[in-house]
Amino acid sequence: MDHVQRAHFPHHQLQQQPQIIIRALDVGALEPDGADAVRGLGARPKTLPPKYFYDAQGSRLFDRITTLPEYYLTRTEQLILADCARRLGGLVGPADLIELGAGSARKTRLVIDALMAQAALKAPLLYVPIDVSEAALEEAAAGLVAAFPRLVVSALVATYETGLAALPPRLAPRRLMMFLGSTIGNLDPAESEAFFAGVARALEPGDALLLGFDLVKTPGVIEAAYNDAQGVTAAFNLNMLRHLNRRFDGDFDLGRFQHRAFFNAEASQIEMHLASAGAQFVRLRKLGFATRFEAGETIRTEISRKFRFGDMAAAVERHGFALAERWRDDQQWFAVALFRRV
Ligand SMILES: C[S@@+](CC[C@H](N)C(=O)[O-])C[C@H]1O[C@@H](n2cnc3c(N)ncnc32)[C@H](O)[C@@H]1O
Repeated sequence: MDHVQRAHFPHHQLQQQPQIIIRALDVGALEPDGADAVRGLGARPKTLPPKYFYDAQGSRLFDRITTLPEYYLTRTEQLILADCARRLGGLVGPADLIELGAGSARKTRLVIDALMAQAALKAPLLYVPIDVSEAALEEAAAGLVAAFPRLVVSALVATYETGLAALPPRLAPRRLMMFLGSTIGNLDPAESEAFFAGVARALEPGDALLLGFDLVKTPGVIEAAYNDAQGVTAAFNLNMLRHLNRRFDGDFDLGRFQHRAFFNAEASQIEMHLASAGAQFVRLRKLGFATRFEAGETIRTEISRKFRFGDMAAAVERHGFALAERWRDDQQWFAVALFRRV
């Protein structure tokens, strides 16, 4: 299934054992590349999977979003992790760390520190980040091995499904699987069920799952986070069309689509859309696909669901997990929960 396999040797003293391995898994393993884009743009209303945000430029723009004053999510989760990391390490014990949708892996440093404290002296710690963005993984891996000489990074350029099915063998007695940033909120209820089932299959009794997710709160606070004053979220949203143009030889005119983000209270989710400035045709030539937009018609590019703690805990527990510990910030805006596979 692999079509690329590379090893980097950034630390000459570790050349016997590469400190970074990056494997790119075949994106067409489950269905042909772009089939989901064709399906989404062919549906009414039109949608696109959020994974298409994340080419190299999209990953950079997302990183900028995480530092915006309006975007409370990353800041809040980072504070919670800083507070709970030591206890988390004690609860989990020596473990390999697997991170889904790792991105720049900035917050991950806190967890790596906590797991390092559990590992035997001089034992390597295995970190397996899984992400569709190869650029984000390369940058994150280089930064992490420079900061943690005992870390071995075995990265997978893959979707969650293909990555979970291709995990490297265990080094430690346990696995800690991590899914941060409220990325779980980007999956609809059916996708979320399939996701937790896949995570459960990759874990054994005694392994752990650490999940960070955004909680229900005043809609004004949530809407501001996706409509920042500097327009970075708008640029991030529009970049998806640039990515599709490059990847599938498309002709989306970025000047003729506008960013919209609003809270859908009934579904308890932010929705990000791109609205067509007029009637127009768009083609994705490499996929042999064309579609017409009416004036004002939108593509929904992302949902970001906001949860009640108990609902999320129940959704995870249905898949063979038991809640072990939970942490929240003082305002109760964001939650980090540790589950044990039973
Ligand atoms: C919302 S960002 C979160 C990044 C980081 N975990 C954080 O907490 O800041 C989502 C990350 O998941 C990755 N991603 C999105 N869809 C994915 C998919 N279907 N499979 C694997 N990775 C995906 C993106 O490339 C991005 O790095």
